[in-house]
Order: sequence, then C-alpha cells, then structure tokens
Amino acid sequence: MRKSVGITRRGVLLSGTGAAMGLMLPALVGRAAVRAAEPEPRVLSARKGRAALWETDGPLTDIWGYDGRVPGPLLTMQQGETLEVRFKNELEQPSTIHWHGIRIENAYDGVAGLTQPAVEPGETFDYRIKAPDAGTYWYHPHNRSWEQLARGLYGVLVVEEPGQKAYDRDVVLAFDDWRLDEARQIDVASLGAMHDWAHAGRLGNVLTVNGQPYPRFPARPGERLRLRVVNTANARILTIRFSGLAPHLVALDGQPIAPELLADETLVISPSQRADLMVDLSAEAKTFTIEEASGQPFAACEFVLDGDPVARTTPLPEDISLPANPLPTALDMDGALTQDLLMEGGAMGRMSGAMLKGEQRGMRELVDAGKVWSFNGIAGSHEDPAAFTVARGRTVRMPIINDTRWPHAIHVHGHHFKVVSRNGAAVAREEWRDTVLADPGERVEIAFVADNPGKWMVHCHMLEHQVAGMMSWFEVT
Ligand code: C2O
Ligand code: CU
Repeated sequence: MRKSVGITRRGVLLSGTGAAMGLMLPALVGRAAVRAAEPEPRVLSARKGRAALWETDGPLTDIWGYDGRVPGPLLTMQQGETLEVRFKNELEQPSTIHWHGIRIENAYDGVAGLTQPAVEPGETFDYRIKAPDAGTYWYHPHNRSWEQLARGLYGVLVVEEPGQKAYDRDVVLAFDDWRLDEARQIDVASLGAMHDWAHAGRLGNVLTVNGQPYPRFPARPGERLRLRVVNTANARILTIRFSGLAPHLVALDGQPIAPELLADETLVISPSQRADLMVDLSAEAKTFTIEEASGQPFAACEFVLDGDPVARTTPLPEDISLPANPLPTALDMDGALTQDLLMEGGAMGRMSGAMLKGEQRGMRELVDAGKVWSFNGIAGSHEDPAAFTVARGRTVRMPIINDTRWPHAIHVHGHHFKVVSRNGAAVAREEWRDTVLADPGERVEIAFVADNPGKWMVHCHMLEHQVAGMMSWFEVT
C-alpha cells in the first residue's frame, strides 16, 4: 500500500475541518409555513465532482459523489420518522440508492434488477425511508457498486434515538481507501480487473476519513464523544487504533451491545460494517492520533483538544449504554428454516465449476463471464431465481461456511441477524449485525426472524466478490 503518510502535511488547515460532523440539511423554514403538510423530499443527486483526496491542499481528484461531494451529505433523522429522498441521477450510468442496514420497506431497498429498475441518467426515483432502529447506517448505489463506490458514491445516515444523550457530541468517521494513479486520479484502468476480483478485491493506496486525507478534529478537553465509525471501502478490512482513548464499544452495525472496553483500543471492521464508540477525552489539552494498521500502521486522522475544559450544568448520565431497538430477537431455533451458505472459489481455491444462469460451467467459461466465486455452487447473478423462500415470521438459521482462502463480509438485506456461533463455539457477546466477517476456513452461524416481506439480497460486501458471483437473494412471503 502506497501510504499517503509520506506526503507533507504542511498545508493542513484546522479551519478546513469544520466539516467533521458534516453538513446540515437545508432548512425548510419559511416555505414550510406556506405549504401544506406534504413534506418536500430531500433531493440527492449523483453527479461528478472533485475532491482533495491526496493532500489537503493538493491536487483535486475527479470523483462521483452525492451532490458532487464525498462523502455525500450526512443525513440525519429521528427513529421512527420517515425521510423522503428524491434521487436524481446526473451521471451517465444507471444507478440507485441502497440504505444499508435500514430494515426498510422492500420497494425502497434500492437493488437494481431486484427491487426496482436502475434509475437511468436524467431520471429520478423517490425513496421513503422509515427507520425502525436508531443507529449508524449508510447509503450507496446498488448498481455496479464495485465501480460506483470506488468512484466516491456513498454517504452516512444517522438515525437518532429519542431521549437524553449520554455524550456531548457525535463525530462521524467514514473511512475509505482509494486507488489513485500517478496523476492523483482514480485509477479507472484497473476497475474491473479480474486479478482484484479473484483475490482480496480492489484495495486502495490512499486512505481518507470523511473524504479528507488527514482530518484534524477540534475538540474540547473533557468532552465525551460518540464516534460513529463506518468502513465504506470496496474491500479493505480496516484495523483502526484509538491509542490513548480507551473507547467503549456501544453498538455494532447500528444495533446496541452491552458497552465493553475495546480490546487493545483496536477496531477491526470489514467493508460496510459500523461501530459506535464512546470516548472520554482527557481534561487536559492534548492530541490523539488515530491510526490505520491493516498494513504498516500510519496516522489516519487526529483529535486536537483545545480551549477550556467542558463545563456541564447537568452531568451526563452514568450509563453509556444505548436503548435497545425494536428488533425481533425471539429466535425459534427449533422451528427454524436452515439454509447453508457455502462459499467457494477465488484464487487458490478448490472450485472447479459452478452453475451460471442455470447451466453448469467450467472455470474457464466462468472466468470469461467474469465469475470466480460461488454460493452453494452457483455463481450468482441478478437473473437467478430466489435461493430460498421463507414464510414471514419464521426464523432462518444460516451456517456460513467459508471454503475459500479469503475473508468475506457477508451482508443480509432488510434484517439484522444474531451471530450465534463461530466454528461451533457460541459467541460470548450478544451481537446483532447486518454484515459479518467470515475468515478463511471459518464456519459462522447466524440466525434471524424473517419478518420483512419482499426480496432481499445476501452477498459479500467485498464488492468485487459480489459482482464475481458472491450474491444471491431470498424471498419473505
Ligand atoms: Cu451495502 Cu447490498 O449492500
Ligand atoms: Cu468476499
């Protein structure tokens, strides 16, 4: 990985970092007074833009972004509320928006070819996002995701819980890696490279946090922050070190867990996963550097404490745990439908062939068709029939078997699942996720109540693996 850490940071401006917590939604005040109750949809347009990814004052890189920037606007909404978003496609390629992790109504899940037709250039699509769960979510296209995310199309969606908060302030940390070429432009020549597809996926050579090469977040001594960490990378499993911050993990993939001190102050987070952390900043002014250490460790961003220590009129609640979401947690393991997910393929794998569009094919034919992975012997494509159908309300048990030499981040749409066991051993922590990492050779069993009617994808969120066969879908009737 070519580290951007070697690049001079002299140009870094503290004032340029106010965007840390993101951008406010435009106020509808005034207009709302004259108009009837119908809310105006929030328009999000996918279009070309430019961003300083390499160096704060450095060369601009051409990107595709929501509203032309990366990350796209931070969307916030209240738990249980409905957010109306009008997606406008101003690109030359069809696209959609998928609301990752939201247990959404199927018609708005944004999967091109499954829940809606792709939105053609110049067209719009209206999404209604009703969020039953509070937490940290994100949005991205679900059409040519491997290209569209690599070019910068993603944003963060925060669903706020009601009630008094046990922290002073939120800070979103959206991590991404980019593959830039010598001209500091997105390396488009390697988009779709079969080598990436058959190996670890597209790994970048430059890391950004909130679209910036090395943001410095101003903070007050003594503040308690809720960090909302999102891995938006196509394929890189990040190892993020919060040295000296003693963070407590309070939620995974949006769902609260019993707070726990983050072991080694190090978070391993796969593509598309989120983690919420609470940190108490020291009462003395100081700088904390956050490192990324999936390869050679290097500095990714920092907190710069300045000013007077926080003085609160009302002390923060002692308990930092987040209120539970209304998830269906009563799993009926005995009456469950068991559906294995066997992963095969990839470089150094044992796969000799797979079904493709209903026909058995050898490896060479599969590679010619851009397929190198399979789920249950099928190199997945959008034309496949449902992998299984389940009656609404039934529990699904899914043993995920990774018979490949690569880790995979398996994502289920429309539901959160409990991670039940790993290699036959019960998982100590009660965790409900929408994406789980399965290591090479590992068997991870998950279970969920299939309570959301519609057609839902299951795929690897290493986006090159997804397009190259690691995708299927099921139907809840
Ligand atoms: Cu984040 Cu199917 O996607
Ligand atoms: Cu994968």
